Amino acid sequence: MNRKPIHIAVTGAAGQIGYSLLFRIASGAMFGPEQPVILHLIEIAPALKALNGIVMELEDCVFPLLDGVVPTADLNEGFKDVNWALLVGGVPRKAGMERKELLGINGRIFIGQGQAIQKNAASDVRILVVGNPCNTNCCIAMNNAPGVPRSRWYAMTKIDENRAKIQLAKKAGVNVAAVTNLAVWGNHSSTMYPDYFNAKIGGRPVTDVIANREWLEKDFVATVQERGTAIIEARGLSSAASAASAVVDTVRALTTPTRKGDWSSVAVCSDGSYGIEKGLVFSYPVRSDGRNHEVVQGLSLNDFSRAKIAATENELKEEKSLVAELLPK
Ligand code: NAD
Ligand code: LMR
Repeated sequence: MNRKPIHIAVTGAAGQIGYSLLFRIASGAMFGPEQPVILHLIEIAPALKALNGIVMELEDCVFPLLDGVVPTADLNEGFKDVNWALLVGGVPRKAGMERKELLGINGRIFIGQGQAIQKNAASDVRILVVGNPCNTNCCIAMNNAPGVPRSRWYAMTKIDENRAKIQLAKKAGVNVAAVTNLAVWGNHSSTMYPDYFNAKIGGRPVTDVIANREWLEKDFVATVQERGTAIIEARGLSSAASAASAVVDTVRALTTPTRKGDWSSVAVCSDGSYGIEKGLVFSYPVRSDGRNHEVVQGLSLNDFSRAKIAATENELKEEKSLVAELLPK
C-alpha cells in the first residue's frame, strides 16, 4: 500500500446517502483493496456537529485504507486537490414532488461548487453529481467551471440501470448478473428510458427471453421510471443505501475497463451523439478503458425508443431553460 492516496470530496456528507457511502469508500469498495483514500467531507455549517459524529465513526472503523479525513463547510478547503468530487449535498424531494421541482432549491448550490472545483481541485478531477435533479445540477456546475474539461462531468443514472436490471432478472427468473447491455437514456426523472430492446439476458435479446411485450412496454418501463417515488412512498425518505451503492458502481464503471461487448449508464455532456442537443447532460450507454469513457455509437433505436428518447431530451431542454440565469454566457 505505497500508492499515493486518492482525494475524494463528498458533499452532503452528513446526509442519508453520505452515511452509507463514506464507509463503502473507506473500506475499499470504490477504488479497490490496495488504494488508500483521503475523504474530504463537505457540509453546510449547521450540519458540522453531526458530521463530527460521522468522523468519529469513520475513525472507529479503523479502515487501513483511510489515510485522512477533512471535514469542512469551506468549499475551497473541501475541494482542495481532490481527484474526485461526489456532489451529493442538497435537499431530497418529498412524496408528491417531481425531482425537477428541486431546481429552485438546489440549483444555486452548484454554481459555487462548480467555481470552487475549478479553482481548487487536482488537474485530473472528475465530478459525479447525485443531488437532484442531478442532470441539470451537473449542467449548472459544469458551466460554472469552464476550465474543467466537459468530459470529466457526470450525473448518476446507474441507480436506474440497476433498478432495470433487477426487474428484468426477476421476470426472467435469472440471477441479475445475467442481465447486460442495459442503457438508460436521458434524464434521471420519470421520463428516463430504460432501453430493453438493446439489453440482453444471458447473451440473448431481452425481447426473446421475455416474450411479454406488453409487460416490457408498460409495466417494466413505468416501474423503473417510478422506482424512486415508490421508495419515497414506502420509506417516507428517498433511496439512500441503493443510491450510495450506485455511486460506488458508477465510479468503478468509469475507472475500470468495461467488459467486452457490454456498457454502463451514466449521464455525460452530450457531444450530439444520437442527435441529442449538444451540452445537455444526457444519460447514454458508455464504455470505459479505465481512464477515459466513450459513448457507445451505432445502437439501433426503433420508433418506440426514439419517441421515448425525444421525450426525455425535451424535458432536459426545458430544465436547462428554467436555469438559464445560472449558466454564465
Ligand atoms: P439528506 O437530506 O439526507 O442529506 C443531504 C445533505 O446535504 C444534508 O446533510 C445537508 O446538510 C447537505 N447539504 C445541503 N446543502 C448543502 C450544500 N450547499 N453543501 C453541502 N452540503 C449540503 O439527503 P440524501 O437522501 O442524502 O439525498 C441527497 C441528494 O441526493 C438529494 O437531492 C436526493 O434527491 C439525491 N438523490 C439522487 C439520486 C440519484 O440517483 N441521482 C438517488 C438518491 C438521492
Ligand atoms: C431516486 O431515484 O431514488 C432518487 O433520485 C431520489 C428520488 O427523488 O427519487
